Amino acid sequence: MRMVDIIEKKRDGQELTKAEINFVITGYTKGTVPDYQMSALAMAIYFKDMTNQEITDLTMAMVESGEQIDLSAIHGIKVDKHSTGGVGDTTTLVLAPLVAAVGVPVAKMSGRGLGHTGGTIDKLEAIKGFNVEISNDEFIQLVNRDQVAVVGQSGDLAPADKKLYGLRDVTGTVDSIALIASSIMSKKIAAGADAIVLDVTTGDGAFMKNEKDAERLAKTMVQIGKLANRQTMAIISDMSQPLGLAIGNSLEVKEAIDALKGEGPADLMEMVYVLGSQMVVLAKQADTLEEARELLKEAIQSGAATTKFKEMIRNQGGDDSIVDRPENLPQAEFVIELPAKESGYISEMVADQLGIAAMLLGAGRRTKEDTIDYSVGLMLHKKVGDSVTAGEPLVTVYANSQAIDDVKTKIYENIFITKEKVAEPTLIHQIIT
Ligand code: URA
Ligand code: CA
Repeated sequence: MRMVDIIEKKRDGQELTKAEINFVITGYTKGTVPDYQMSALAMAIYFKDMTNQEITDLTMAMVESGEQIDLSAIHGIKVDKHSTGGVGDTTTLVLAPLVAAVGVPVAKMSGRGLGHTGGTIDKLEAIKGFNVEISNDEFIQLVNRDQVAVVGQSGDLAPADKKLYGLRDVTGTVDSIALIASSIMSKKIAAGADAIVLDVTTGDGAFMKNEKDAERLAKTMVQIGKLANRQTMAIISDMSQPLGLAIGNSLEVKEAIDALKGEGPADLMEMVYVLGSQMVVLAKQADTLEEARELLKEAIQSGAATTKFKEMIRNQGGDDSIVDRPENLPQAEFVIELPAKESGYISEMVADQLGIAAMLLGAGRRTKEDTIDYSVGLMLHKKVGDSVTAGEPLVTVYANSQAIDDVKTKIYENIFITKEKVAEPTLIHQIIT
């Protein structure tokens, strides 16, 4: 087989065979297929797209390019949850202990944040001592004993994807649904869960800016999951404004603790119940979504959810005192209130731009090498649809410098206030099974 023939075949809009896709991915992982040929193929895929069969073959070839985590030693149905990314998305931090408190084993591998999006692993590292790099054996033991562990993604999971993603990033080929779907699903499948709940975000703060693309991505990923024998479902959720009120690592840990006590912001609570009940049903801990939701509510009301979070933190070497005393989390030196400049209704809070404002404070990374300041970030006081009076607090900025004029400008430029009443955005757009 020759790589050039495969490139030409895709360039001409034909379907590649499983053998051809395996040849490409094996060769690219080993280095016998050079970057320039892989770039040409990625661009051909970008323009000519792939059939679901090709996308599945590509996913499985990337799964097989590296380590596949064997979770079979963990009793019960292991459920994973993945979000395609957002701003202030605190759900995993809440869901991992909450769903575990209901008896669902959660063996979760999470990522770090980049650019305007945050990552669960960074948020957990805001907790002093919390270790996200534990061995596979210990990971499995913890989940077997206490139903939950959250770790960073193993370096050898889907190495073909890691290499290809780096290449796509610099060749204008990130925004291909075929390539995004196979990239995400290769890592989920290699991570070993029996069932996968996907949160595909849509809006300014998401990869998929419009709902049609989000729907296609969600349907494609659900199909791949099923073809790989993993029970898979997706929700399409709104990321036109940030989720919840907190954006930033310590602030989001505090928001997660509030949510585990049932006192989180309404949109975050709803996301937690919607995604959590799907996880509980897939794990066969409840027969219906309604029953699952009741179990989650009971775990919150009884305190089992916060107890599980403490246990999870202790198990991974972290300081669990933060659950009762969130002031033990890293705190910023300056707390700066930004008041609303006019009265009316909030019509827009541009998610990605507010994520960038938090990043500029130090809450996120511009490049992979940047270090994070866990203490800084934003607390929103309003969400789209809320009424606001001039002079009322709009956003509180947590900073370690008083020179934050660029951040203030960015915040004011990306929160719009109108005179007419505005409807709250729909949080859950679709459920795809
Ligand atoms: N996230 C991934 O893991 N891969 C993509 O291609 C896009 C988002
Ligand atoms: Ca949040």
